[in-house]
Amino acid sequence: MKKIAVYPGSFDPITYGHIDLIKRAAAIFDQLIVAVVSNPQKKTLFNIEEREAMLKKATRDIPNVVIDDFSGLLIDYVRQKKARVIIRGLRAISDFEFEFQMALTNQRLAEDIETFFLTSNEKYAYFSSGIIKEIVKLGANVKYFVPLFVEKELNRKLKGK
Ligand code: PNS
Repeated sequence: MKKIAVYPGSFDPITYGHIDLIKRAAAIFDQLIVAVVSNPQKKTLFNIEEREAMLKKATRDIPNVVIDDFSGLLIDYVRQKKARVIIRGLRAISDFEFEFQMALTNQRLAEDIETFFLTSNEKYAYFSSGIIKEIVKLGANVKYFVPLFVEKELNRKLKGK
């Protein structure tokens, strides 16, 4: 049976940290579905189409990666895709509380689905999409954190360039 994993998230926008994690997970599972959450309650800088387009561009050389979106409960989506594993990245201890809560809630809701935590390369272990958006607004160069095409999109959105 094909081993399918789902890597859910906001990806607003994708960073080198996400890309590193996608590569690591894709090397282990037969198929990795990167699932962008479509949540009208949560305000994002990029809309769902833009976030998916950037993910597709960044992962086009990895054949077993599929980009998709979902709304509603994550575990329902995971079941619908016939996957059994949720992938989440863990950076510092600060991530732990939220991730632990989410993993245990999902476990309570669906005993047959497991959450696997991966850590990215240490080069990427400290930044987030949120902090990148903040420093782009203030004029920083973010080439260490995101691919050039993402940096261009950030500048277009945040600075009208
Ligand atoms: O990248 P993020 O914003 O940390 O991802 C959070 C995400 C999308 C994985 C989480 O909010 C989620 O799973 N949302 C779907 C709704 C759901 O199932 N919530 C219960 C999870 S405990």
